[in-house]
Amino acid sequence: MTRRFFAILCLTISASLLLCAAVSSHWSRVPEKDHIRINPLATHPESVAAGALVYRDHCAQCHRADAMGDGHKKPPLRSERIRSATDGDLEWFLRQGDLGHGMPSWSSLPEAQRWQVIAYLRSIQ
Ligand code: HEC
Repeated sequence: MTRRFFAILCLTISASLLLCAAVSSHWSRVPEKDHIRINPLATHPESVAAGALVYRDHCAQCHRADAMGDGHKKPPLRSERIRSATDGDLEWFLRQGDLGHGMPSWSSLPEAQRWQVIAYLRSIQ
């Protein structure tokens, strides 16, 4: 009886740890100075509309118009992972990309457009 209880407890703890690792994997690599950055355009009235255009032109082809991804390699951008990221985490990830996994770097976009698309992503969660 006690052994069974500990087995279940152990399983529960391992499952929670795995879930945490899955939710935070990209963001745990973000340098602190980037992690704490705040979107300077978050409250700018035109950011969401401008970000929607950036999204349509550069992101929708993979993440889909409804930002739900392709259900396979291209992840949804309405998700707990996006909600758990800071603005700075997202901006860092957009600059880096993850080419090995099929996500281009957006470092050649003007920085303002990265912040605008981040404001757009926030607006659709
Ligand atoms: C060529 C296809 C492609 C395009 C275009 C693209 N992405 Fe991605 N994106 C991906 C793939 C594939 C991943 C998963 C990468 C990984 O697993 O590390 C990803 C991951 C992401 C993530 C991390 C999501 C998560 O849950 O970890 C964000 C945020 C993101 N993309 C935003 C964008 C934005 C914003 C744009 C437009 C500026 C964009 N992507 C354009 C393919 C693309």
